[in-house]
Amino acid sequence: MRAKGIIIAIDGPAGVGKSSIGEMLAFKLNYKFLSTGKMYRALAWKAGEIGLDLSNEAEIMNLANDIKWDFKSDENTLIKIIVDGIAMNSQITDEKVGKATSAIAKLPQVRKFMCAAQREIGADGGIVLEGRDIGSNVFPDAELKIYLDASPCERARRRVKQLAEQNLEADYEQIFSLILKRDKQDAERKYNPLKKSDNYHYMDSTKLNREEVVNEIFKLVVHIVPNVL
Ligand code: DC
Repeated sequence: MRAKGIIIAIDGPAGVGKSSIGEMLAFKLNYKFLSTGKMYRALAWKAGEIGLDLSNEAEIMNLANDIKWDFKSDENTLIKIIVDGIAMNSQITDEKVGKATSAIAKLPQVRKFMCAAQREIGADGGIVLEGRDIGSNVFPDAELKIYLDASPCERARRRVKQLAEQNLEADYEQIFSLILKRDKQDAERKYNPLKKSDNYHYMDSTKLNREEVVNEIFKLVVHIVPNVL
């Protein structure tokens, strides 16, 4: 056992709810929570701010090394990503940053950099990390690995609902095709692609709500650490 508990890796495609489920689970366990996608997004956002060429790996790596990164967990266990003193929030969630993020997430040196940072953050355990390659690459020795899935139609439907709740316009067909495109990019990436494998607990959440998914994962945690609470 690690100093602060086990490592829970949640991987899966875009829009499946890994962040909200990971956060709820971490809260329930009093564990830390890290969204690794936010780290890639933060770097892409900063590269955009300075106007770097997103395919120039050397430039992007200089930036990654120059940034003063802070990973601070607040009282709700959520690890905040702070880039040169600026907390990363809504500025990294839009589609433009999402697209730039896919471009830099392909670069092998960027992946190595993020992987090293994530290992440092999570090494003591007592943490839930979500992403695409957590169980396969960052922490292949994680005590619990979940592959969270849902059909592309259901993921698009959830996204439309989420946007509508924020009074934002949402076109189902457009969102659906974007989801298919992201799935393809994640699966076909040369370095650390998203892939299902036998050492993951596969969970299809198409017909489950968040609480049901969190409870299912919680049961698996208790199986590994009976005295977790
Ligand atoms: O989960 P998200 O949408 O915030 O992820 C943003 C992008 O980062 C997406 O293109 C996938 C990529 N990503 C990755 O390659 N590896 C991770 N561990 C997390 C995210």
